[in-house]
Amino acid sequence: MNNQFEKKAEAWSARFSEPVSELVKRYTASVDFDKRLAFSDIEGSLAHADMLAAVGILKDSDLQAIQQGMAQIRAEIEDGRFEWKLDLEDVHLNIEARLTALIGDAGKRLHTARSRNDQVATDIRLWLRGEIDRIVALLRELQVALASVAARHAGTIMPGFTHLQVAQPVTFGHHLLAYVEMFARDVERLLDARKRVNRLPLGAAALAGSSYPVDRERVARTLGFEGVAQNSLDAVSDRDFAIEFCAAASLVMIHISRLSEELILWMSPRVGFIDLPDRFCTGSSIMPQKKNPDVPELARGKTGRVTGHLSGLLMLMKGQPLAYNKDNQEDKEPLFDTVDTLVDTLTIFADMVTGIQVREARMLQAAAEGFSTATDLADYLVKKGLPFRDAHEAVAHAVRKAADAGKDLADLALTELQAFSKLIGDDVYEVLKLEGSVAARAHLGGTAPVQVARQAQAVLDRLKPV
Ligand code: ARG
Repeated sequence: MNNQFEKKAEAWSARFSEPVSELVKRYTASVDFDKRLAFSDIEGSLAHADMLAAVGILKDSDLQAIQQGMAQIRAEIEDGRFEWKLDLEDVHLNIEARLTALIGDAGKRLHTARSRNDQVATDIRLWLRGEIDRIVALLRELQVALASVAARHAGTIMPGFTHLQVAQPVTFGHHLLAYVEMFARDVERLLDARKRVNRLPLGAAALAGSSYPVDRERVARTLGFEGVAQNSLDAVSDRDFAIEFCAAASLVMIHISRLSEELILWMSPRVGFIDLPDRFCTGSSIMPQKKNPDVPELARGKTGRVTGHLSGLLMLMKGQPLAYNKDNQEDKEPLFDTVDTLVDTLTIFADMVTGIQVREARMLQAAAEGFSTATDLADYLVKKGLPFRDAHEAVAHAVRKAADAGKDLADLALTELQAFSKLIGDDVYEVLKLEGSVAARAHLGGTAPVQVARQAQAVLDRLKPV
């Protein structure tokens, strides 16, 4: 076996007259984090080798040796036996060196018509494609969890807020379904970004393409890519797909953060709308009475981390000339951390949402306190013939009178109400009731229990695994 490759650790070292310092070696190496791409790297290499053999660049016996060697390397990585070497810089050179150690010259032929530049771009895309599928599945689980709670609470009345002031009564199920919509858009965005992730850079080689008769379509088919990158310079330098993913991921986290903020608020003893299971909360080391909503608070904090990764990647690309630059090695850690943060957060949230305990009486009481049916009274007057602006004014006077007396609208006697408009009859009390108010909004997208139950069921029918 020719062991020249082993002797000189760096694949390019023949060109150099002095070694890099230990610090520079550590500074430029990426193996500590990009070893995470190992299985994608092997998959990409096998597809490349298959193509090289098919077009006659590689002998069949070399292809077989590569396949066997890669199978062994895969097993070594799976069992934790693979020895990662910092000297070999990154995942690509580590695997290639091991392959050559195992099978000799055939291993050295694998890199024909390829560069690490198109190789790494291919690996990240393969890896990210799988992670997008995992995240989409988790988003669907979270939507199912939200819709299940929404179905149980289609008729649970709570105050709806604008400006964090009680506005109109809504149902808790309706409120949760708002988040189902946000996460549904997140799924759409991720699946759309996936189309641009799923294109093959391999064949671009270092930047200019390859002088070998490569069959890029064949490699794309083998790897399940939907298309082939059409320009070799763009193929090795493009990281838009990673940025797009992080943008979609940032919106996921922003939705999570808004939900978190509400859970925190609802759980505050001052509000007391919900309780979260103990396993998502912690106590205080000094104040024995505390039960803190740590999980939603951390998720709200981690949103900053993910949106930070998005701006990091945007800045990474800014001003990079064509084609590949080593800057791009910095794309991996933010991308990996974004995926990890999303996967953990979504997994925990699906579980936590299912465990929300709802304090229905507190919600109802809060909805009853803020004159939340004032708009219903105005609509009642409009239906009796009063122009809306006049109705609005009459009700404003009534609210003021009730507030001064420390009462709710429904507590005013009919004669007191009639002082604001002669059109008011004793059927007004139906309208002032919270149940009547929500039930009246039964159109598509409205807060009525029948509508909420229907929509929650539609989500469950669409998403729940059978
Ligand atoms: N580790 C490198 C990266 O992540 C692989 C590509 C290196 N290419 C090069 N020309 N140095 O980007």
